[in-house]
Amino acid sequence: MSLLTVTPYLRKHRRAIEDLTFQHYRVHTHLDWQNVEDWLNTLVSPLWLAWQGERLVGLMAASEPVEGTSWLRLIALHDDVLSPQNVLNELWLPLSTELLRGGVRRVALLMLRDWLKPYLSPLGFAYDEHIVTMFRGGHQPPQPVPVSNLKIHTVTSTDIDTLVAIDHAAFPAMWRMSKTDIREAWRISAVCTLALHEDTPVGYQLSTQAQDTAHLARLAVQPSAQETGVGTVLLTDALARFSRRNIHAMTVNTQASNVRSQRLYARYGFVRNGYDLPVYIADLPVSSARTAAD
Ligand SMILES: CC(C)(COP(=O)(O)OP(=O)(O)OC[C@H]1O[C@@H](n2cnc3c(N)ncnc32)[C@H](O)[C@@H]1OP(=O)(O)O)[C@@H](O)C(=O)NCCC(=O)NCCS
Repeated sequence: MSLLTVTPYLRKHRRAIEDLTFQHYRVHTHLDWQNVEDWLNTLVSPLWLAWQGERLVGLMAASEPVEGTSWLRLIALHDDVLSPQNVLNELWLPLSTELLRGGVRRVALLMLRDWLKPYLSPLGFAYDEHIVTMFRGGHQPPQPVPVSNLKIHTVTSTDIDTLVAIDHAAFPAMWRMSKTDIREAWRISAVCTLALHEDTPVGYQLSTQAQDTAHLARLAVQPSAQETGVGTVLLTDALARFSRRNIHAMTVNTQASNVRSQRLYARYGFVRNGYDLPVYIADLPVSSARTAAD
């Protein structure tokens, strides 16, 4: 068997990457709403490739860092790889070094498929918490709740910076979305709305639609405006907008520890549907950053 070599991504490798991710079993794709091809088109973060001779046998990519955190977005291994751990270790080394140099201190992974589980601990990842899914079945929407001085308007491309500001104020570092990801999410959203309180933006929601189900992908309220009904208004207004399209079912994901958001969803008929996904985290050692940068 030929030796393993690891190289950074170049555009000319796109076809090999697409083949590897489409044709093999051990693939982790956490690209939100994009497919691999589209994701590569907007790639602004590290992607490393493992080769045996001319053959691509593995790859590992992270998301654009936000506030010192990146997510492992794409991992793939050729079915013929005999030592998956070895290939993953070889990919993780340059990837984590590059992330450290870019100021990343924490790497997270949403474990969408079980094949990855045994390999995570040797890479330095440990279980953090679960993401839970809640589902609201096909019944009529609740009455939209009016709040005085609150207006809801449909987001346009000129609002993206406002969404980023609200998102980063509302979520802890690990859960903030980059501007690139927010713009992409907005581009493919079905209903994306901004709440204005006396013309000041105070919250937004972004929902997608797949066949006859809506998915509330993001709901964020400025901390100073929380607990004044903004989240309730954004949620009930979004449900009403979908209802006008004859869509009554909606899903949402949130952290198991995010009790406040779960209370809001439960109040409007959402129940947990058992589709929970574990999040793993690796904290990168700062001392390696120094070594890597030297
Ligand atoms: C979760 C989140 C969206 C809720 O938004 P919000 O605007 O605070 O929600 P609301 O004000 O409508 O409701 C929150 C609470 O305030 C209460 N409330 C609403 N209006 C109120 C008012 N005028 N006076 C007093 N309390 C009020 C609600 O009854 C509710 O109480 P509960 O938590 O005991 O059930 C917001 O906390 C947030 O942005 N969190 C960070 C990001 C996040 O977690 N997003 C969701 C994950 S997907």
